[in-house]
Amino acid sequence: MRLDVFTQVPHAFAWMTEQRPLAAVLGTELDLRLFNYRDTTPLRAGQVDDEPYGGGAGMVLRVDVVAAALDAVYGESSDQRVIALTPQGRPLTQAVVEDLAAAPALTLLSSRFEGFDERIVTHLCSDAISIGPYVLSGGELPAMVLLDAIVRRLPGALSDGSGENESFSDALEGGFEYPHYTRPAEFRGWTVPDVLLSGDHGKVDAWRLLRSRERSAT
Ligand SMILES: C[S@@+](CC[C@H](N)C(=O)[O-])C[C@H]1O[C@@H](n2cnc3c(N)ncnc32)[C@H](O)[C@@H]1O
Repeated sequence: MRLDVFTQVPHAFAWMTEQRPLAAVLGTELDLRLFNYRDTTPLRAGQVDDEPYGGGAGMVLRVDVVAAALDAVYGESSDQRVIALTPQGRPLTQAVVEDLAAAPALTLLSSRFEGFDERIVTHLCSDAISIGPYVLSGGELPAMVLLDAIVRRLPGALSDGSGENESFSDALEGGFEYPHYTRPAEFRGWTVPDVLLSGDHGKVDAWRLLRSRERSAT
């Protein structure tokens, strides 16, 4: 997959590229490119935003700036899947992640301050996604959230089997994952369920599915 992120703060992504799971697939399953709107802005002095028409506080990311950034990378090609990260977008869910992870190429647009000129979302994007019903200061964290969630679904990102029985997976009927325990078997009188120590994999699987269903029903 080729994943392009347009941002005013490309260096914010540096730490992520050094960590698993992203580091495990970077350069093989994932081609990650970071673009700064300032590098291609047609305006002077690296300007990318402007005051809102109609007045009000804050600065708005300009449509001509974003169009220039996209043109510089994609030229006339119009089949690119371009996603605006905005609190007003459709909610990010695991089902959305699975769909995005199957795409050969994606473009994420982030903004800061008051957000996007509406024409960016309407005319330059094919989708708009929110990572939750709250407002962050910029699209970099939302882009990283989406990036991390997508990367986990790419081949080789996780160790074998660890992505199959997770919360929201088909294996758990779309519900929450069952509880996990590790050593010690007893701590301050808090014990581990006997079935997990039984060595009976059939019973363990049945117990886990039951716990998953119970958690998901509440
Ligand atoms: C301060 S926010 C703008 C909020 C906008 N004025 C509003 O009220 O909807 C600046 C930028 O951060 C990003 N952002 C903030 N919260 C987000 C969220 N929940 N999901 C996705 N992106 C978000 C978007 O790129 C947004 O344009």
